[in-house]
Amino acid sequence: MKNIDSEGHVTGKSIYLDDIPTINGTLYGVIFNSSCAHGTIDSIDYSKALKLVGVHRILTYKDIPGENQIGGIFPDEPLFAKSEVHFQGQPIALILAESEEIGFHARELIEIAFTEREIIVDPREAQEKGELIFPPRTFKLGNVEDSWSNCTHIFEGTADTGGQEHLYIETQGAYAVPLENGNIKISSSTQGPTAVQRTAAKVLQVGMHNLEVDVVRLGGGFGGKEDQATPWAVMAALGVQITNKPVKVVLHRMDDMKMTGKRHPYSSDYKIGFDSDMKIIAYEATFFQNAGAAADLSPAVMERTLFHATNSYFVPNIIVKAYSCKTNLPPNTAFRGFGGPQGMFVIESAIMHASNKLGIPAYEIQRKNLIVDGNEFPYGQIADGVELTNCWNTVDTKFDIAATQNRITDYNTTNHASKKGMSLMPISFGISFTKTPMNQARALVHIYSDGSVGISTGAVEMGQSVNTKMLQIAAQAFSIDPSRIRLESTNTTRVANTSPTAASATADLNGKALQKACNALTDRLKESAAKKLGVSTKHIEFKSNRILSNGNDAGISWNELVDQAFLERVCLTENGHYATPKIHYNKETEKGHPFAYHVFGLALTEVTVDCLRGTYDVDSVKLVHDFGKSMNLSVDLGQIEGGLIQGIGWMTMEELSYNNQGRLLSNSLSTYKVPDIYSIPKEVIVEHVETSGTDMAVLKSKAVGEPPLMYGIGAYFAINNAVQAFNPKAKLAFDAPFTHEKVLMGLYSK
Ligand code: MTE
Ligand code: HPA
Ligand code: MOS
Repeated sequence: MKNIDSEGHVTGKSIYLDDIPTINGTLYGVIFNSSCAHGTIDSIDYSKALKLVGVHRILTYKDIPGENQIGGIFPDEPLFAKSEVHFQGQPIALILAESEEIGFHARELIEIAFTEREIIVDPREAQEKGELIFPPRTFKLGNVEDSWSNCTHIFEGTADTGGQEHLYIETQGAYAVPLENGNIKISSSTQGPTAVQRTAAKVLQVGMHNLEVDVVRLGGGFGGKEDQATPWAVMAALGVQITNKPVKVVLHRMDDMKMTGKRHPYSSDYKIGFDSDMKIIAYEATFFQNAGAAADLSPAVMERTLFHATNSYFVPNIIVKAYSCKTNLPPNTAFRGFGGPQGMFVIESAIMHASNKLGIPAYEIQRKNLIVDGNEFPYGQIADGVELTNCWNTVDTKFDIAATQNRITDYNTTNHASKKGMSLMPISFGISFTKTPMNQARALVHIYSDGSVGISTGAVEMGQSVNTKMLQIAAQAFSIDPSRIRLESTNTTRVANTSPTAASATADLNGKALQKACNALTDRLKESAAKKLGVSTKHIEFKSNRILSNGNDAGISWNELVDQAFLERVCLTENGHYATPKIHYNKETEKGHPFAYHVFGLALTEVTVDCLRGTYDVDSVKLVHDFGKSMNLSVDLGQIEGGLIQGIGWMTMEELSYNNQGRLLSNSLSTYKVPDIYSIPKEVIVEHVETSGTDMAVLKSKAVGEPPLMYGIGAYFAINNAVQAFNPKAKLAFDAPFTHEKVLMGLYSK
């Protein structure tokens, strides 16, 4: 089935938040935010701004009727700063003006004085000073301490990864309008409509039932709108509550880049031990997560780093510990992979370290240690349905790893000024929210009396085409034409108490809830048909808009059956609820079965480094991915290509730069480089692994949103290999992104 949004997107007819027609009298919100990364506010003078014609009002913490608090996991983040600021860009006040231009002008007129305090931007420094967001956590398996003496080779080092700007094409925003009786409707570009509703209710001191949150679609979220779409929506709602006028808050790109959190940078220590056969015997890692100035989603992100610390390898003895370090950066947040990629990078670095020191190709070490069915993950879950060996063999059959290496070695022998490198990057990514209660969803289905269908779920469309998948599920369940089905906006009054659209689990959770609703409706309609035809319900089938009895056309169309059922007063509306079975987790013991299943895959990456300039090209990425049984291959391929390139961007060129005053220097697209058409691999081949799939995935079609991002990690290690082919003594720290500057320094290091 074709993506239902394709035409709207390419013709510009798709509706995003900023396309919603504004009502006469709408006020525009501009956020006055901190220019100081850490300090106390001595004085603020709003008088000049307030005198500007067209400025309606300026809201501060004093105007909040409820709690001045937006922290989702911990209550540690005010909506508006009161007397202290903890990062540059922290909101202090909301200017409500008759136009955005007036609002921006007014912002220039506000006078503020701070007393500066010590600024920390480095997570290790924060940890040393005891600045932690919450206590550290440790995952353990076997006995690491006793294992070192059994190791033939031990390697220790550090591995760091940088942050990443989400760069959703649509910036953050919300539009709130007053309804009658003090109720408010909030349109928000959010992955979490319920988070917006719950937080706004707390701040406005109203019930959740007083607030309706509606989402049509997002111009990308990538995790950046799981939690961080909330403040703007709450500010808009507060503006409505206070002025009784519609209020729109849409961030301009530079404000968005300055004020919002990003992927967490990590700094990590590792120690890895092998036996003489290069089997990993023991692994120890300590992760220093740069959380920024408040918790946001950091606890959950940190947890996933620990869950994915061993990536695709079985390690019998392991201890991994993570600290969430409080720094004076905007609170970092969810980003595709959710801490998993940061954990995987460290063990891949440890393996590369061993490979460099021993002269054994990293892929030989990787191959020997792949997880197989029955292995225990450090968190107690027993691996099953593992496709890693299958993926490896498929990559080898289709793309020939040894031949690739030989071709590269030949190239490197005959070329001096340019060198090639390759790498293999296996992935194993757990599917489910790591917090078990979040793994639930609902869907509401109406069959209208003319046979057309309306569907609401808790899923938010953000480019991943979940709406297409939902529509496909319903069309398949009813066997009617997709054009007869409408996917409604995501709205808290139709589907309540939703989990955010995140964790790659949206299609599974909402799709399974939708299947339940559709199946209940189908059962009722079958009863109605069976009665009319005088046969048993088990002989009734729906096929291509027709009703079949015993496999033959019964002379009734879907539309006629629906009409008949309606006249019989059969209920044509159903609500489906799904909660993932079998999953559980105990945070005290750090053991359980947190994931419904894992997604596996393997990428073979080739790069060429220009050894005069330090520039490089990714020549190809050839990968074998575990789709299960893809329900929509073109959508899933889009997710793989997009995720891969986003991962390559994170690993190679996207470099966030803060000065020691905590100011983001790379705050626009002229200073922050993201992959473009010239930087994507010249060749991307995506193959699937032959598998029977799992019933835990909707229609056996495995989650595909986040896992492919981690294929991008392969680019880092392929570049590393190419640099070493030029300079075997190259001094290379494991420190992503591997920018051209770092490559050049590495090529000529001694
Ligand atoms: N694809 C597009 N085009 N836009 C996005 O914002 N977000 C990613 C991924 N793919 C994203 C995307 C992230 S972070 C997640 S968690 C999943 O989609 C969420 O959607 P899903 O659960 O339906 O896979
Ligand atoms: N993944 C993504 N988002 C989340 C998770 C998770 O495991 N938990 C809470 N939000
Ligand atoms: Mo995705 S980082 O779980 O929104």
